[in-house]
Amino acid sequence: MTGQPTSEGASEQVGQSLSLDERIDGLIARFGRDRSALIPILQEVQDAQGYLSRQSVIRVAERLGLPASKVFGVATFYNQFRFQAPGKYKIQICRGTACHVRGSAALVEALKRELGCDTGQTTKDGLFSLEVVACLGVCGLAPVLAINGEVHAAVTPTMVKQILRKYRKAAAAESQVAGRA
Ligand code: FES
Repeated sequence: MTGQPTSEGASEQVGQSLSLDERIDGLIARFGRDRSALIPILQEVQDAQGYLSRQSVIRVAERLGLPASKVFGVATFYNQFRFQAPGKYKIQICRGTACHVRGSAALVEALKRELGCDTGQTTKDGLFSLEVVACLGVCGLAPVLAINGEVHAAVTPTMVKQILRKYRKAAAAESQVAGRA
């Protein structure tokens, strides 16, 4: 599920926005201005940024001669696009067949409850983002979730809190060290 586009991307700095614009212009040159190029271009922008900022969507719309509302409309239709910057810890929950059969849907619900955000979104503190993905390639360990690539095996809904606590503690310790520096 996707959230509505937010204005977070508008806060990008000028230096970043220039390189973003250049990158988008390069993609337009590569894929062309045909409307069929829209999805591949958005995919590439998301790959580069980790999400689709408001600014990037507007730029793509301008360059393709489409209303920005149309591009947002198309992008929100597809589950693959996200509109918030990923969290410090990117949680990927597998909904492949093996994980699904072993209860991944209940894990998704437990994560949503614990994080207070939906799939495709980032927590308010920016610590976690939650993404549902296809098979993570470790079906024998199902149901699994990965956090920044670290795989957690045979996860049950009751384990979710404990797993998240470990990352929250690590983030708190990091910010303490940064505060002392
Ligand atoms: S189905 Fe979940 S790891 Fe393969």
